Amino acid sequence: MFIKTEIQNLICTIKIDREVSLNAMNPTVLHELNQEIGSAIGNEDIGVIIITGSGEKAFIAGADIKLMEKLDKKGALEFGILGQTVTNLIESSPKPIIAAVNGFALGGGCEIAIACHLRFASENAKFGQPEVKLGLIPGWGGTQRLSRITGKGNAIELIIGGHMINSTEALRIGLVNKVYKQKNLLNETFTFAKMILNNGPHSISESLRCINISSNHSLDEGLKQEVETFANIFESDETKEGLKAFVQKRKPNFNR
Ligand code: CAA
Repeated sequence: MFIKTEIQNLICTIKIDREVSLNAMNPTVLHELNQEIGSAIGNEDIGVIIITGSGEKAFIAGADIKLMEKLDKKGALEFGILGQTVTNLIESSPKPIIAAVNGFALGGGCEIAIACHLRFASENAKFGQPEVKLGLIPGWGGTQRLSRITGKGNAIELIIGGHMINSTEALRIGLVNKVYKQKNLLNETFTFAKMILNNGPHSISESLRCINISSNHSLDEGLKQEVETFANIFESDETKEGLKAFVQKRKPNFNR
């Protein structure tokens, strides 16, 4: 197994564990990751998912280059589709997924991070889309998602420059949400996850769904879906409880 999963207090930590190759991803790692994320999404005892890498050097150093050297067009298409299956699953998860980026997040590693809903990084983290240095292009969503997070100019700079940026620069361009000392990264990520867990799970998943709509629909369509969802949730027990609790000056008791 290249993936280690731990569940604690409704928080599931999924760790890519292939330290000898800086957690580079081959099809086996991708299949296992897909399986673990799918199970976590379907598990009622999990409210937030954290993805991180083994060791203190790398989150994920990208797709496995040694494997890619042997791929033909058909194999590359299969590998690309598999990577996109995982990144699509992450992005469309109704439960928040946080990338705790503990080192290199390069190529496919950066693409996994940007598919996550939030990115918290350690000070030593390095980000990049170095595919062009290998005569490649990003294949797991980088050409589409990066510009939505950093703006087109920053995405183009990273993708055609192929260079790495540090966590300070990643924070400046909005690629990461927070930066922490390596030793505090997981604790701080847990603290944020616990804060999310105080909130209504249905309103979180509906918020994520509506936010995702903004990237592939017009503003008019997105606003229509938002207002319909806003109205629909008034019929849910969760919304009734959240509003009532405020009026009664008490903490809401959201069912999970
Ligand atoms: N694939 C396969 N093996 C990798 C790897 C990768 N992406 N990244 C690192 N490794 C392996 C190295 O080959 C090395 O193994 P050996 O000891 O067997 O040679 C081991 O991990 C340690 O790596 P280094 O000795 O290179 O460590 P370093 O500290 O000197 O350098 C690094 C670290 C800068 C991250 C460097 O390893 C590196 O540049 N890695 C490749 C990063 C990269 O280009 N990623 C993008 C891949 S393309 C992609 O992901 C396409 C896509 O969009 C899906």
